[in-house]
Amino acid sequence: MKLKGRTALVTGASRGIGRAIALALAAEGADVAVNYVSSEGPAKEIAEQIQKLGRRAILARADVGDFPDTFRMAQEVLKEFGHLDILINNAGVTSDMTFVKMDHASWRKVLAVNLDGVFNCTKAFIDQMIKQNYGRVVNITSVIGQIGNFGQANYAASKAGVAAFTKSLAKELAGKGIRVNAVAPGFIETEMIEAIPEKVRQRLLDQIPLKRFGRADEVGRAVVYLVSSDGDYITGAELSINGGLLM
Ligand SMILES: NC(=O)c1ccc[n+]([C@@H]2O[C@H](COP(=O)([O-])OP(=O)(O)OC[C@H]3O[C@@H](n4cnc5c(N)ncnc54)[C@H](OP(=O)(O)O)[C@@H]3O)[C@@H](O)[C@H]2O)c1
Repeated sequence: MKLKGRTALVTGASRGIGRAIALALAAEGADVAVNYVSSEGPAKEIAEQIQKLGRRAILARADVGDFPDTFRMAQEVLKEFGHLDILINNAGVTSDMTFVKMDHASWRKVLAVNLDGVFNCTKAFIDQMIKQNYGRVVNITSVIGQIGNFGQANYAASKAGVAAFTKSLAKELAGKGIRVNAVAPGFIETEMIEAIPEKVRQRLLDQIPLKRFGRADEVGRAVVYLVSSDGDYITGAELSINGGLLM
């Protein structure tokens, strides 16, 4: 087991990619705090699955876009686990519309969760990671942050912001035992993708060299690679998992 004795928090772990990451970390021996904002039932189910793997799991409800709420959650997680080794900033939302139709509320909603949320969560745990001279942070960005997308100016800007944040933090913290990386999924089969109309899905598939959407567990395994000793020489990277969509 690659992560035995490690503690982790995954934001937005109640479903989709976050759920798969939480289970992949637990399968490698980590105790996991399952963050969610509203899906308590699904989050409880994930926690039970993690416990069945023989790991500790705690529920960590917080709106990561809200700094005081995130800070409170972090204190509770640190009290339960004693320390945190691995932080996965995965929680994300979309609010798609063309820029002409995009109002300030839609811009703020996406930036608040996707970008402020990464600041809030990292800020809440980083002092303790520096103190223990060990930390692994993985931020989930997106191919959309790399290439932009029609109707997703808010989402693309948030993810490009997280990518730049990742590199800056990696430089600042490299000497303190902390590695900071990003994973940029392409189109992964989750509720976010299932909501896309069939015609658009087909058009997307046509553009993907591997001719299929990705699976959440494929992202989960990449995260394990980055946070385990397998990734010990990797920091400031943005690992693309997109079936060849961007090359
Ligand atoms: N799916 C894709 O193809 C794809 C591609 C590239 C990047 N991504 C990125 O991967 C990440 C996960 O995507 P997904 O498709 O798995 O999304 P998803 O199925 O919609 O799940 C989103 C998760 O984020 C949580 N969340 C939303 N707002 C939150 C908040 N304010 N505070 C805390 N948690 C919050 C949700 O919790 P509740 O259930 O409690 O609401 C849920 O667990 C996102 O950052 C997304 O941008 C996804």
